[in-house]
Amino acid sequence: MIPTSLSTARLALHSSRSRLSSTRLKPFTFLRMASTSVNISAFGLKDASLIRSQGFIDGKWVDAKEGGKIQVTNPATGEELGHVPEMGLEETREAIAAASNAFVTWSKTTAKERHDLLIKFYQLMRAHDDDLSRLITVENGKPLSEGKGEHVYSASFLEWFAGEAVRTYGEVIPAAQSNLRNVVIKQPIGVVSILTPWNFPSAMITRKLGAALAAGCTAVIKPPAETPFSCLALAELATRAGIPPGVINVVTTSANIADVGKELCEHPDVKKVSFTGSTAVAKMLYGYASKTLKKVSIEAGGNAPFIVFDDADIDAAVAGAISCKFRASGQTCVCANRIYVQSSVYAEFASRLAEKVAQFKVGNGLDGATTHGPLIHDRAVQKVEKHVEDALSKGAQILHGGKRLSGSGSFFAPTILSDVPADALVNHEETFGPLASLTKFETEEEVIKLANDTPFGLAGYFYSKDVSRVWRVAEALQVGMVGTNTGLISQAVIPFGGVKESGLGREGGHGIEEYMNTKFIAFGL
Ligand code: SIN
Repeated sequence: MIPTSLSTARLALHSSRSRLSSTRLKPFTFLRMASTSVNISAFGLKDASLIRSQGFIDGKWVDAKEGGKIQVTNPATGEELGHVPEMGLEETREAIAAASNAFVTWSKTTAKERHDLLIKFYQLMRAHDDDLSRLITVENGKPLSEGKGEHVYSASFLEWFAGEAVRTYGEVIPAAQSNLRNVVIKQPIGVVSILTPWNFPSAMITRKLGAALAAGCTAVIKPPAETPFSCLALAELATRAGIPPGVINVVTTSANIADVGKELCEHPDVKKVSFTGSTAVAKMLYGYASKTLKKVSIEAGGNAPFIVFDDADIDAAVAGAISCKFRASGQTCVCANRIYVQSSVYAEFASRLAEKVAQFKVGNGLDGATTHGPLIHDRAVQKVEKHVEDALSKGAQILHGGKRLSGSGSFFAPTILSDVPADALVNHEETFGPLASLTKFETEEEVIKLANDTPFGLAGYFYSKDVSRVWRVAEALQVGMVGTNTGLISQAVIPFGGVKESGLGREGGHGIEEYMNTKFIAFGL
């Protein structure tokens, strides 16, 4: 926490941009800015001016036209963090207009200029490592160690795409006729709508925004209503880095997806939509975007299998299962959802996993001892409850946990269920919570069939020391990403994305391509 006097001094800097006169700055911790407000002390940042509580359109911090507000709370404590504007169609259209105007000049900047601005933006993120990590933890609930991990991951997308900006090479293609020369160039696609989830309040934004800006596109971001403050802090830092007005716009809303989300997909001036979230919402947005045949990137739900073969290093498999299943308390799209263990090592794996999970410390992510935080809200807790009850009713047994935890936050005990039958809900739907579901299998053929028996195909994991099996299984899993002998695969440099109903396109890696049009030019001689 910062001393009140220091926080007041820092807020004075902030207030010049938020129409709050310095004479009104008293040593209080609940700061009202126009119609929105933030509970500054609940964040405990060194630089409180990173906390913005208004939308951001055309380089200006703005409130909702109709004055509506969304309340944001800390999921670990239920404490009110503040409010952000409840924006609607009018603000969304203004943001799209601002991004369209800015595109005229931003798209003509050189790749080197965009590279340099992205590096500056990256450096500013890294200069605020502690504050931005803490901000993630306060609004999302993940432990501070994971908040730090996400923050560094988030910044790495800006650094990576700065490098990609200067490598958007075209092609010269030998012509079929002697009087022709063929050239291919890459051009930024235009205004991009970015819709992101609450489970990674920062990294899911930079993964899309970094690529869009590097390509020469401008953006309208709709951050999640649960965790808008990390996104607004990024807009603040982008401004400090010198990214011009209108290039990045943020519309805060909790509106139904069929309202603001629809506009972001249907508006004719938007040329590309990038979404991370549930498959159900992805299908709606894809439908809206199809009306104008927009380019779409979707990273949707997963139902990742995690397979332990009898030739695996069991200690490594247990460690992998813990990070893969329980990262963010099970709230990642790439989390293991179904753990299949070969019968001869099943008992050993299950008991070692239960031993490790029993050592977890569940609590407020800001507490240094906490290893696992809350779920985002009570609906999330209810879903885990439903999956546990369903599995138990079908014959599964509890090895550890199994119930919600009392207290003010939305906590569910890290849980292990054994002997979960194939028809249990958890084997067919993403739980998005701290539930490790164990099922026994006999043969490689059987487990591949089980693993692929899902409409989803984001990530899949397995542990084996047999190199032939490693190749066979990696090729057989119907997913976009495979972890063999590792439970953590996420990095800025990889093509992140899924197959089947888990998504379209790839982010990270060479994902800048998704934000560019390919143009062929024939030169007649
Ligand atoms: C997600 O859960 O959507 C992303 C997870 C990651 O990037 O690791």
